[in-house]
Amino acid sequence: MLGKLKEAYYRTYQTVMKGTASLLPFPIPGLLTGTGSVKQLAENINVRGLRHVLLVTDKDLMALDLPGGFLKTLAERDIAYTVFDRVQPNPTVENIEDGIRSYRASGCDCIVAFGGGSPMDCAKIIGARLGNPFLSVRRMEGLFRVVLPIPPFFCVPTTAGTGSECTVVAVITDAQSHRKFVITDLKLVPKIAVLDPELMAGLPPAITAATGMDALTHAVEAYIGRSGDTFTDSNAERAVRLIFGNLETCYGDGADLEARYQMALASYCAGAAFTRAYIGYVHAIAHNMGGLYGVPHGLANAIILPHVLRFCRVEAQPKLAALARLVDLGEPGDSDEVLASRFIEAIDQMNERMQIPTTIAQLQASDIPLIARRALDEAHPDYPVPRIMTLRQCEELITALLPPRVDADKTMWT
Ligand SMILES: NC(=O)c1ccc[n+]([C@@H]2O[C@H](COP(=O)([O-])OP(=O)(O)OC[C@H]3O[C@@H](n4cnc5c(N)ncnc54)[C@H](O)[C@@H]3O)[C@@H](O)[C@H]2O)c1
Ligand SMILES: [Fe+2]
Repeated sequence: MLGKLKEAYYRTYQTVMKGTASLLPFPIPGLLTGTGSVKQLAENINVRGLRHVLLVTDKDLMALDLPGGFLKTLAERDIAYTVFDRVQPNPTVENIEDGIRSYRASGCDCIVAFGGGSPMDCAKIIGARLGNPFLSVRRMEGLFRVVLPIPPFFCVPTTAGTGSECTVVAVITDAQSHRKFVITDLKLVPKIAVLDPELMAGLPPAITAATGMDALTHAVEAYIGRSGDTFTDSNAERAVRLIFGNLETCYGDGADLEARYQMALASYCAGAAFTRAYIGYVHAIAHNMGGLYGVPHGLANAIILPHVLRFCRVEAQPKLAALARLVDLGEPGDSDEVLASRFIEAIDQMNERMQIPTTIAQLQASDIPLIARRALDEAHPDYPVPRIMTLRQCEELITALLPPRVDADKTMWT
């Protein structure tokens, strides 16, 4: 009885949120697209009269000198820059506070995020805190808590990906509690996003695979959820088609710039879909794998996605079958039931071909109750999932992600 009441409350809340979202003016970033397009960003900053950039990135990307070309174009226009490269994967509140100190100490007047979702999300909240110094990062958790605008903000994604370059979302980790939390606000969308495949050419195969599966998860969760509309559905469909057509090409040949560009577009479209239509249980569980164990976000999603799709296969069947038809799975005349299963199997097979494991190596059985509780706290009532999960079902699903138990006797003697 309590379960039914709760479910009714979640569904009512989600219907109200869907109606509200349809009225909101979701900002769309200006786009610079194509090979070498990052070279145009400095001029776009220049014409806005901005004189000092805080470049938010990570140490790996600086070591590869990936931002080097862009920094040169800034210097050519006499635009000063300060590099803040202390962003960790799954960025923390401390990373944000450090970035704020760099911005203020150097007298910056705008922010460029250069990297994957971690630098982009960190940069978003550096901006949000600078524009709203009276709000702590924790106080911004949830929907629409960022009161005042953020400084001029630009995104250069180097993974494809999170879609953070077009979403209203930033995901931050509380390093003390090892909990990830989501900040959602229209003010977090950058003024310009650059989709330059050249910057993605050196992305190693494992990160290409994991980040690409993150984009697929965004598209699928937005598509099968109950808050989609024609705009989000068409973006999700385009993303799924592009990912099935190009991700494995990028995995096999990172230097294929056409495939890289299609993946950058896919990631953007998937972001455009989920920023309005939301995500689901895959993300709710994956965020906890990131917060507790530091599992890369895309990798966690890739492993969890088929499990959650099997959990809601019946409720999501028409949508999953539509996706199967879109990517030419099955035979003409196959039922929705068959096609939905084919789509889930195709994800399993894609994971396998890209050597994505089927379990989460760091997962500890003793953490499962905590992970399940936190995941459902994140998902309910916001995520408009096709089928509501109970705590017990969530625990069971996570149990299936445990790595095979090592048999102490056997390993000693074999
Ligand atoms: N805001 C959103 O809408 C949104 C959506 C999904 C995920 N996220 C968040 O984004 C984060 C994950 O982002 P991510 O998956 O892009 O990974 P990431 O930004 O953490 O980067 C992963 C690794 O890839 C390296 N890398 C990035 N680009 C590279 C390149 N071109 N060449 C070589 N190496 C490169 C980085 O240096 C890093 O070591 C998580 O915190 C996740 O929660 C945010
Ligand atoms: Fe994601």
